[in-house]
Amino acid sequence: MQEDSLQAVVVGAGTMGATLAKLMAVHGVKVTVVDTNPQVLETSRLRMGANAAAVSFTTELKVKKNPDFVIESVTENVTVKQKVLAQIEDGVAESTVIMTNTSGIPIDDISSAMRIPQRFVGTHFFNPADIVPVVEVVPGSHTEAPVVEQTCRWLRRLGKRPAVLNTCVPGFVANRIQHAVMRECLSLLEKGVVETAALDDIVQYSIGIRMALNGPLCQRDLNGLDTHLNIARYLYPDIDARQEPAALLEEHVAQGRLGAKVGRGFYYWTDESRARHQAQERKSLQRIIEIATQHSSGGEP
Ligand SMILES: NC(=O)c1ccc[n+]([C@@H]2O[C@H](COP(=O)([O-])OP(=O)(O)OC[C@H]3O[C@@H](n4cnc5c(N)ncnc54)[C@H](O)[C@@H]3O)[C@@H](O)[C@H]2O)c1
Repeated sequence: MQEDSLQAVVVGAGTMGATLAKLMAVHGVKVTVVDTNPQVLETSRLRMGANAAAVSFTTELKVKKNPDFVIESVTENVTVKQKVLAQIEDGVAESTVIMTNTSGIPIDDISSAMRIPQRFVGTHFFNPADIVPVVEVVPGSHTEAPVVEQTCRWLRRLGKRPAVLNTCVPGFVANRIQHAVMRECLSLLEKGVVETAALDDIVQYSIGIRMALNGPLCQRDLNGLDTHLNIARYLYPDIDARQEPAALLEEHVAQGRLGAKVGRGFYYWTDESRARHQAQERKSLQRIIEIATQHSSGGEP
């Protein structure tokens, strides 16, 4: 298959699948989107705007032609994923690379029942997949090196920055860090140290804006590792190290406060305020990415 006539299938057309398909369409990849729910397919088609014209939508997971790659982006549940992957494996040639967009389920857990786990690799895109540059590329213990290399080449062609992990760990890199940060945020709220809006302000307008320009390690280099060590010595014993999710989080979910999609999470939302926020966020993300990519690090790895 020629690199300039790539064909792909995205299985799952939800939050991620729709922007994954849009990303492909924008970069000239012939893409088919599959979802068992016709309503989700229709919403996804509408979300893609003019790009939808170049995309095929179907509820049938029957891959007629052999695509170069298939991205599984269905519900974050290992059993559901395994079922879908068995169908995908039945339908495609052995040369097709199969990817999963799992947020952090270990790749070997997902591929345990696959016939050819050698061509299976984790590609963790971030929401919205058509905008956020980095993709965590996560080989399982069976994934072959050429599959990882080919995946990285395709991702670069899609304008992405593939970041390959050496070893697969639950949550990969991004979600481990995100959850470590959120564990402490929830702990601070529970202890009454700070209110919701003040906590968001402190993180967004200090660590947040700095991290858009420098990764955490580069940032610490600039601050001085000796200072970091001095702080770590007195602070670590006081930082939340719970092994269970915070009671505050359990309570929000139990009470149906699931976030913007239902009108209430940490904040109150309306459909209109959520749509406005998300549209603004897409535009702002593009500007931030432009600035971040122009701001090259002075340090060498
Ligand atoms: N939402 C995010 O911010 C985000 C970010 C990165 C990665 N992910 C990962 O991407 C994947 C998808 O997440 P999402 O947020 O898009 O979920 P979602 O619930 O919005 O979409 C999942 C879709 O899969 C479809 N589906 C379920 N079983 C199917 C089957 N057998 N065949 C075809 N379609 C099927 C559902 O109908 C649904 O539309 C998950 O693994 C998730 O962890 C999500």
